[in-house]
Amino acid sequence: MKLKSFLKSICIGYPVIAYKYCMNQKVSLSEYRTGYDRAAVTYERWLWLMGKNTDKILNEKTIPIQENAVIVDLCCGTGYVTRKVDSFFLKKNIKNYTINSCDLSEQMLTEASVYNSPHINYIVDDAIVFLKSLEADSVDALYCAWAIYYCNHAALFFQLNRVMKKDGIVGFIANCKGTLEDIEKIFLETMVESPENIAKIMDIKFSIPSSVNSITKGLSQYGFEIHSSGEGEEIMKFDTPEELVTWLYETGAIAGTKEIFKDGNKAIKTIVEKVKKYKKQGESFCINHRFIYGVYKRSVSKIKKRKVYDCKKYNCFIKNDI
Ligand SMILES: C[S@@+](CC[C@H](N)C(=O)[O-])C[C@H]1O[C@@H](n2cnc3c(N)ncnc32)[C@H](O)[C@@H]1O
Repeated sequence: MKLKSFLKSICIGYPVIAYKYCMNQKVSLSEYRTGYDRAAVTYERWLWLMGKNTDKILNEKTIPIQENAVIVDLCCGTGYVTRKVDSFFLKKNIKNYTINSCDLSEQMLTEASVYNSPHINYIVDDAIVFLKSLEADSVDALYCAWAIYYCNHAALFFQLNRVMKKDGIVGFIANCKGTLEDIEKIFLETMVESPENIAKIMDIKFSIPSSVNSITKGLSQYGFEIHSSGEGEEIMKFDTPEELVTWLYETGAIAGTKEIFKDGNKAIKTIVEKVKKYKKQGESFCINHRFIYGVYKRSVSKIKKRKVYDCKKYNCFIKNDI
């Protein structure tokens, strides 16, 4: 960084970010929704790479495939989990079951609802608001794939405690710390070098789990025992930095980031330049997607000891405030 832009970053860029943080000028949930509305028709690209990893939480042996089962696909997107789970029920010829598939983005649900079934309800809603609408002890299995960071964790665990039946199954898979290496740095540099172009800041990183243990800890307070867990990483290679940036937007991997800048086109040019600088490996440009996953079972013996969280006092970075 040249001296002039270094001084601009220190004297103006970082103070602008601090100011926006203090004034709560952050990308909101409805702006993440806009990001996913935009990515809906290209989201298949994400599933093409990551869908096989979602399968790690969709084990036929753990899913309660039985008559009258109630399943929730929370933040269902274009319905990958919904379709998989439905296929298990169809295979076993189960007649009565319900899959409630909820998402904030209407466009994602439009894509999902191409797959139609009398057993599936597609619901446009915020995840926590939807969970609050469910009856206590009413859900046999709930899956949340690639979306836990959009929910206030305390509120989510609190609602899971309320809605899951005894022996209920909860499965999640999520990006974790270390995913999209250098992308945060690239965005931060782009922001501080052109502080006049900053509209908002983004604080989703605080909701990205550092490890599977952070989720296990939250769920175990409510009597959920770990059944299986793991971690993994996928690397995507591109011929040009432009293709890498397009991938990030089209897969929704950086949904919401367009709202950070007043002039998005100007910012994207800088981002592409920085991807060229930081993400070159040999002749290619590479990006990593690191993730964790876990499947939990509600243990009967521990329900009695469950602890009730005061959501307001807990780590509430995402307020689910739409
Ligand atoms: C990365 S996609 C995952 C979609 C799907 N679960 C899958 O495995 O393909 C994240 C999804 O979460 C949805 N989402 C984000 N915030 C949400 C919220 N507060 N409530 C419900 N859905 C939300 C987005 O609209 C998007 O469809």
